[in-house]
Amino acid sequence: MLQHSNYGPGARRWRRFHLSALGAGLLSVALLSLDGLSLGFQYFLMGIIVVVAVVFLGEYAARIWCAPAAAQFVGLSATRARVLWAVSANGLIGLLAVVPALVITTGALSVDNDTSSMFCFLWVLKLSAHAPAMNTLARVISNERATLASVFIVFIIVLVSAAAATHLLEYDRQPQLFGSIPASLWWAVVTLTTTGYGDVVPMTAGGRIVGSVVMVSGIVVLALITGILATGFAEEERRREYLRVWEQVVKVPMFNELGTVTLSEIVNKLRVRHYPARIVVVRRDEPGDSMFFISEGEVEVRLPHGIVKLGQGAFFGEMALLDRLPRTATIATTDPTTLLVLYASDFYEVASHIPSLVEAVEREARRRRAENEGKQAGVGPS
Ligand code: CMP
Repeated sequence: MLQHSNYGPGARRWRRFHLSALGAGLLSVALLSLDGLSLGFQYFLMGIIVVVAVVFLGEYAARIWCAPAAAQFVGLSATRARVLWAVSANGLIGLLAVVPALVITTGALSVDNDTSSMFCFLWVLKLSAHAPAMNTLARVISNERATLASVFIVFIIVLVSAAAATHLLEYDRQPQLFGSIPASLWWAVVTLTTTGYGDVVPMTAGGRIVGSVVMVSGIVVLALITGILATGFAEEERRREYLRVWEQVVKVPMFNELGTVTLSEIVNKLRVRHYPARIVVVRRDEPGDSMFFISEGEVEVRLPHGIVKLGQGAFFGEMALLDRLPRTATIATTDPTTLLVLYASDFYEVASHIPSLVEAVEREARRRRAENEGKQAGVGPS
């Protein structure tokens, strides 16, 4: 249940509860710092903080206890797994989050003390556990470190030359502000990052020319960093999605018949979606822009003449794409379900590259159409 990659109902419920506790705790800490609150309300907020602190303490203990079961510690002794988890980033964040609980329960600080409120703000670090993209960001920075380092070096070159140049040009007019290179560096950083507090301003024509160049360079450097990180993020996400889809694709028999090259082509076009039970995925009479393959779980097709269940390996939503007509049925999950989504634009591309797959889909669509027409005629007014 504590694993982030677990999409089961228990794990989802736990994550929802954890996020709510975190939100309640942070809100209470923030509100408690307001002046003029009634005593009753203050006690209420303190109560929430203590409860949240205890929840995090319990969570920390449970995570330490379960550490040997984590995939990354397979084959290690239980103690070693626990120690390794405790010194990992998540372990340390968990520990920081229980510090407020320990401080409050041991009475070292009272909960209404401003310092303990600040301690509680350590909880905000726990939010990172709910952001899977944090790992991605670390990977992106590591992947792009050479490019980022080059931009950083350009940044340093512009910074130091700007500070040296303005020191030379402005020294006579403003010795107190540009009296040394370190003092000029403050102006250079504020200008290069396009912050521009306006507390230090060059007065000479030369200083202003340098200032203009630094401002434009600042925009260029920031644009470069943004571009590098954004492209790296998109690339990394694409790679991760590929692995996620690949994991699910092997559970759908009709994909297994395709060769590796063809399969990898379709994997690039599929998206993984996890749905809890009893969620409507498509609605009758709505326009269809995608079709779905079931890699785990079950859905029910609600047709006018009855209900048909579709399980792992089946697909649905193809008729709207083939006939370019509205959806013929409403489809809802009956169990927690994982679907692979193929959008219409990709479907038509796949149709031209992998005719065997689309033929199989068309064959099943024809069968379903005939079945529906037969049943419709059976229950019709005639
Ligand atoms: P579409 O019309 O796009 O959306 C509803 C889907 O229900 C439809 O595509 C089919 O995939 C599916 N469907 C329709 N009729 C049947 C049937 N008789 N048996 C199984 N699935 C069906």
